[in-house]
Amino acid sequence: KTAAIVGCPFRGGQPKLGVDKGPIHLVEAGLVSQLEELGWKVQFDGHHQFESLAAESDPPIGKLKNPRLVSKVCESVAQAVGGHAKAGQLPVTLGGDHSLAMGTISGTLDAYPDACVVWVDAHADINTSETTDSGNIHGMPVSFLMGLGEKYSEFSWIKPALRTDRIVYIGLRDIDSGEKRLLRENGIKAFSMHEVDRYGIGRVVEMALDHVNPKRDRPVHLSFDVDALDPSVAPSTGTPVRGGLTFREGHYICEAIHETGLLVALDLMEVNPSLADAESVRQTVAVGCSLVRSALGETLL
Ligand code: ARG
Ligand code: MN
Ligand code: MN
Ligand code: MN
Repeated sequence: KTAAIVGCPFRGGQPKLGVDKGPIHLVEAGLVSQLEELGWKVQFDGHHQFESLAAESDPPIGKLKNPRLVSKVCESVAQAVGGHAKAGQLPVTLGGDHSLAMGTISGTLDAYPDACVVWVDAHADINTSETTDSGNIHGMPVSFLMGLGEKYSEFSWIKPALRTDRIVYIGLRDIDSGEKRLLRENGIKAFSMHEVDRYGIGRVVEMALDHVNPKRDRPVHLSFDVDALDPSVAPSTGTPVRGGLTFREGHYICEAIHETGLLVALDLMEVNPSLADAESVRQTVAVGCSLVRSALGETLL
């Protein structure tokens, strides 16, 4: 079994500096050797370089900020992730902002068309160019993957390959009103923090998998935004929201998905080592590495 680390130092989907340094810190914290200790062969050929893709000028298209850059970066990430997946490797994409999931999930669905997505996040990231207030594309990858909203030729490489019944959310607590409408109108299943409180994380993960993967036969792509965790657990992130998952709840999700034996791709996104003090950064990077280890089979006993 081989894991391929896809380091994506990219921040074009949102305005804050530093999230492009996330993958560098995660790797420097020893993630590669930690995964090797779990018995994985790890392929890491350096962080992906996106500088060459930076457009001369990239003015907004409608409300979309950095549209050409985000599109080109995600297209190249889709090729990297899809290539690793088709070679039978487990792509572990380290962000970088969550717009990258347009690329990672496109790559996964190219290799495994019947895959489902478990999206762990404080946010639904399903704004369209019409509903977004911020214009930040890291709040929109899911709508692009589903083909919701206006179509732009700049993003024409994205196949609307993600079915609305093949994604489930866990951890939501900060959803824009347009997003609430999109979730409702499209019948998209979501377990917010309210459901985590009501049922406990064990039942929530079971119900989430029952929805997207009732027979437990579909490949699973886990896209984990570190801001799903409570800011007391993962403070160094660009859009923290209080009332999030505990340290254990976050790890439980990763452990339970590992136990299915169906994980084919993992994203760990939105670690921003430029936000908060040194100790908070160390804590956030450490929890990021440990979530990845749990998803790749680390157990408590
Ligand atoms: N809903 C807000 C927006 O669209 C926040 C999105 C935060 N997304 C994230 N990947 N952290 O701008
Ligand atoms: Mn690679
Ligand atoms: Mn988020
Ligand atoms: Mn997100």
